[in-house]
Amino acid sequence: SPLTVAIDGPSGSGKSSVSRALARDLGLAYLDTGAMYRALAWWALERELDLQDQALVAQAARDLPLRISTDPDEQALSVDDTDVTQEIRQTRISAQVSAVATNLDVRGELRRRQREIIEQERQRSGGIVVEGRDITTVVAPDAEHRILITASEEARLARRALEVHGSAGAEQLAATRDQVVRRDADDSTVSTFLEAADGVVALDTSDLTLEQVISAVHALVRG
Ligand code: ADP
Ligand code: CDP
Repeated sequence: SPLTVAIDGPSGSGKSSVSRALARDLGLAYLDTGAMYRALAWWALERELDLQDQALVAQAARDLPLRISTDPDEQALSVDDTDVTQEIRQTRISAQVSAVATNLDVRGELRRRQREIIEQERQRSGGIVVEGRDITTVVAPDAEHRILITASEEARLARRALEVHGSAGAEQLAATRDQVVRRDADDSTVSTFLEAADGVVALDTSDLTLEQVISAVHALVRG
């Protein structure tokens, strides 16, 4: 029977790495919902929209000509035939994505698309691993498995600094702080991902390697 695994967590908790590995190992589809918010931010900036104009950005969300791969081995994403897989990871997007993600009409539209993809992949691929900020609580509260991946702020900052700047020295940590701490604070005004909701299993990964986290999640899903 079809399987949905819903995974939420703050920035740098490891949810993308873990979700992709789990989908690969179980032969399931994979959806990075954060990439959808990033693609909308990219498109709105490309069109020079005022991100504070709620109605305008909500309309852009409804019009967004987005294609997103659900293959865990191929993270392709395009807007209007422009491949933006790399561009949406740029610092300028990370810095502004929360402005579009805190727009409630935007969230309504992207959640609708996410639920469509989930339904489609349950039929077509036997199931899907979906990760984001509101998957366990709003997008897929009926998922067979719901997991919150957490880690201390210190651990998340160090992981992100290493990933983006190749080092977790004082300067690199300071440069990463806005992308992690400020963004989580903004995002948490519209989503509950800093603590586990009822029925959601929390996994603190601060002192675990990525391999250990993947094993732990496997154990949860196998039951
Ligand atoms: P998120 O999707 O939650 O923002 P990512 O999966 O992108 O997090 O992980 C952020 C960075 O931290 C990546 O470079 C990843 O390889 C690394 N990472 C993830 N989990 C762990 C872990 N348990 N221990 C050490 N590094 C990790
Ligand atoms: O960089 P990180 O992997 O932590 O972020 P992401 O998963 O790529 O998500 C980028 C942004 O999209 C977040 O900072 C949120 O503003 C937004 N987002 C959201 O609001 N709801 C989701 N389900 C997923 C992401």
